[in-house]
Amino acid sequence: MGTMDQDILKVLYTEKQIAARIEAMGMEMYEDLKDKNPLFVSVLRGAFIFMADIVRACQVRCDVEFIAVSSYGNATSSSGAVKITHDIQQDITGRNLVVIEDILDSGNTLCFLKQYFATKGAASVSICTLLDKPSRRTKVITADYIGFTVPDEFVVGYGLDYCQKYRNLPYIGVLKPEVYGGNDE
Ligand code: PRP
Repeated sequence: MGTMDQDILKVLYTEKQIAARIEAMGMEMYEDLKDKNPLFVSVLRGAFIFMADIVRACQVRCDVEFIAVSSYGNATSSSGAVKITHDIQQDITGRNLVVIEDILDSGNTLCFLKQYFATKGAASVSICTLLDKPSRRTKVITADYIGFTVPDEFVVGYGLDYCQKYRNLPYIGVLKPEVYGGNDE
């Protein structure tokens, strides 16, 4: 227990539930990827914890990369414009990429990245997201691997932040509206 817990309205997924789901996802991905020498690309910062767990749950021969993009800043909804602030460090021509995300929300980030990696010559680009929030989608995009489909609530923890905080909560919870100045509507 820590002082962050008092800001949480309810726990959506416990540490144990997350671990069990990731284990199942990892096994499913293993079957698809075992002969593909995949390159897992984590989208910083939110996906850093999920990345660490999913690559260990999927015991394929692979390599890892990290890309950082900015679109939200400290706002709670996407501005639409995505900018790469740290790019991957290797040639991806002919590689099978798996983009690892913490959440697929409007779809702006992943739509942009899918296109970006395709133009850089990737053989395939699949998407693995821990959380999917389809109710907020503005772009036509679906993930290939989804941990949990979540309602339109303000979720934090397990990598997900509010103003850069709460990423280190081991569970995924809903933030109390008074913390972010929202209401229940
Ligand atoms: C979050 C999340 C995704 C993106 C999803 O990142 O990690 O990258 O938003 O939203 P979208 O589908 O509407 O594009 P954020 O910009 O909050 O940065 P972070 O990863 O540093 O938390």
